[in-house]
Amino acid sequence: MTSSPAQRAAELRRLINYHNHLYYVEARTEISDYEYDQLVDELKRLEQAHPTLIAPDSPTQRVGGKPISDFRTVTHRIPMLSIDNTYNANDLREYDRSVRNLLGGEPITYVVELKIDGVAISLTYENGQLTVGATRGDGERGDDVTHNLRTIGSVPLRLHTDNPPALFEARGEVYMTKAELDRINTVQMKAGEKTYANPRNLTAGTLKLLDPRLCAQRKLNLFAYSLGALDGVDVNTHLEALDLLRRFGFPVNPHIQVCPNIEAVIQYCDAWATKRHELPYETDGMVLKINDFGQREHLGSTSKSPRWVRAYKFPAEQGKTKLLAVEFWVGKLGVLTPVAKLKPLRLAGTEVSNASLHNADQIAAKDIRVGDSVIVEKAGEIIPYVVRVVPEERTGHEQVIHFPKHCPACGAAVVRDSGSPFYFCSNAENCNAAVEGRIESYADRDRMDIEGLGEQLVKQLVKAKLVKTVADLYRLTLADLVKLERMGKKSAQNLLDGIEASKDRGLARVLAGLSIPDVGVTVAADLAQEFKTIDALMSASKDRLAQCKGIGPERAESISNYFHSTAGEKLIADLKAVGVKLTEEEKVKGTQLAGKTIVVTGTLKNYKRHEIEGLIEELGGKSAGSVSKKTSFVLAGEAAGSKLDKAKELGVPVLTEEEFDRLIGVDRTSGAAPPARSPFGGAGMLPFPDA
Ligand code: IVH
Repeated sequence: MTSSPAQRAAELRRLINYHNHLYYVEARTEISDYEYDQLVDELKRLEQAHPTLIAPDSPTQRVGGKPISDFRTVTHRIPMLSIDNTYNANDLREYDRSVRNLLGGEPITYVVELKIDGVAISLTYENGQLTVGATRGDGERGDDVTHNLRTIGSVPLRLHTDNPPALFEARGEVYMTKAELDRINTVQMKAGEKTYANPRNLTAGTLKLLDPRLCAQRKLNLFAYSLGALDGVDVNTHLEALDLLRRFGFPVNPHIQVCPNIEAVIQYCDAWATKRHELPYETDGMVLKINDFGQREHLGSTSKSPRWVRAYKFPAEQGKTKLLAVEFWVGKLGVLTPVAKLKPLRLAGTEVSNASLHNADQIAAKDIRVGDSVIVEKAGEIIPYVVRVVPEERTGHEQVIHFPKHCPACGAAVVRDSGSPFYFCSNAENCNAAVEGRIESYADRDRMDIEGLGEQLVKQLVKAKLVKTVADLYRLTLADLVKLERMGKKSAQNLLDGIEASKDRGLARVLAGLSIPDVGVTVAADLAQEFKTIDALMSASKDRLAQCKGIGPERAESISNYFHSTAGEKLIADLKAVGVKLTEEEKVKGTQLAGKTIVVTGTLKNYKRHEIEGLIEELGGKSAGSVSKKTSFVLAGEAAGSKLDKAKELGVPVLTEEEFDRLIGVDRTSGAAPPARSPFGGAGMLPFPDA
């Protein structure tokens, strides 16, 4: 019996997906490469002859896509938080004590995994089909990199199940093997081009390529390690989650240990501290997770990271090399940082050729000289630094390090405050290096997030005298920009759009971007919440400032000085004049749900999932993923499943969508068309049916 083209195509897809999975996930094969290629060729021919048979989850479609022109931003349904670190056995014991305390002595099971040194991603499947793949970004919002993630052989394009849940989000780490990094670096070297220092940066860079064909040429891999937003899935422990991921076709790292207590965790972490070098990919620590989701919910999260998980970072690595020279880098506040230029060495998975010498006092205390053999230490993300010199290896030709008398960037006099270990450029307000530092910092993703305004472009703008303060960015024109080297009309317009978009970021981000001494992202956010407008902040006395959360007298002094300096006052006036928003909105739009923890399940008539979750937060509530005794109520839509059962079992109240609307004060019965905006004033929040 011969099958129809549709049947044969389905059969081929099944076969190819099966062999793909064996190859990429289980690392074994049952057929030769030749036989595999035959299957793919046959499917391609069939699809060419019958284009209607092409489906987005066909294995022929992994690299089919055209380059994209820009990245779409994706808001994560559940934020992708980060993990707090521990560095030694005592940190781990301390963590365990605090957890047991919070859980009132309940028994705890830890699951310990390798911490893969790659890039965190989220993969969303709707009715079993991969619809969106995104980077973590700032945790709230990431970049849509679906086109590139599809090219990764171990990423399932469709969940391996006949009965897929409505919504399934897998999270994991995309990484590159050490061998693949070496292969790419060899190619680069032969071409006389720059090599990449570590697989993580190259992975991140590869995911940000616009052309998926380029991404496909660099072999990336995936390990899935957690779940995100779900609907139609009932999972109660981490082990169940990993099992489900495996069954759905995701690669899960096999090195996992279930530990009944913290001593067992410590033992497992220790064992990997050296064994990890034998792995084909880089790891930068271990991750310990509490297995039980009920306990996780009870523990909750801080704003940055959940309390149910900790990373254990492997001890720093040290190595010996030669200090060849010292350079002085001028920072955004004009401080000169001495940087050791080293004979390159590999440490903690990266190539190190610069190390911070911190400041003059440190250099003197360690008696570091040019020409010395030095011990360099690097731990994970931290900038490498010189621990000590090796005096036995001195030849007598080593040279004492002197700070320059003139700024290496602008030539102005270098000054040192009495009693301070820091040297400054006396011309920080105008020095190009400091100006560049301030503009770059302003454009930073965590601050004003100006797309496309990176280090090189900032240098060009400053050199061309187009920009001296951050306010000048808003006065740039297309004509200014196209005069710059390597700047086409399109990129120039994109940059202008990016700058324009930054006007609305709000006071917190502006403050974080101003390079006010001692004011980083967190302090800026606190100040903005406290004062709400720039005028209120500028007229606050030092005493008033010092009373604010996280400030204290020294910081208060520094903030007050900034706003009363000529440059500070002028900059704020300029930012106002160009239309940068200098006020902060209330985070919470209402209080109807204050203190409530709400679980949404099933399909709602009038809200999309991300809309209802956003709305709950705007009204002061918290939206949670699983039902527990702590749940205030469950909002159940159509076809609600296990979460509804769980609520009934625990006696948690269940609200229909209509009851929920009544609770928050939405009236849909008046017959009139719904207003175009949410009654809570949340811009863009439309709790009404789609057109
Ligand atoms: S669980 C709340 N498990 O480490 C975050 N993360 O430094 C839950 N990572 O952003 C993440 N291996 O990119 C988890 N086995 C693992 C991991 C892992 C690597 C990464 C992840 C995270 C980062 C935090």
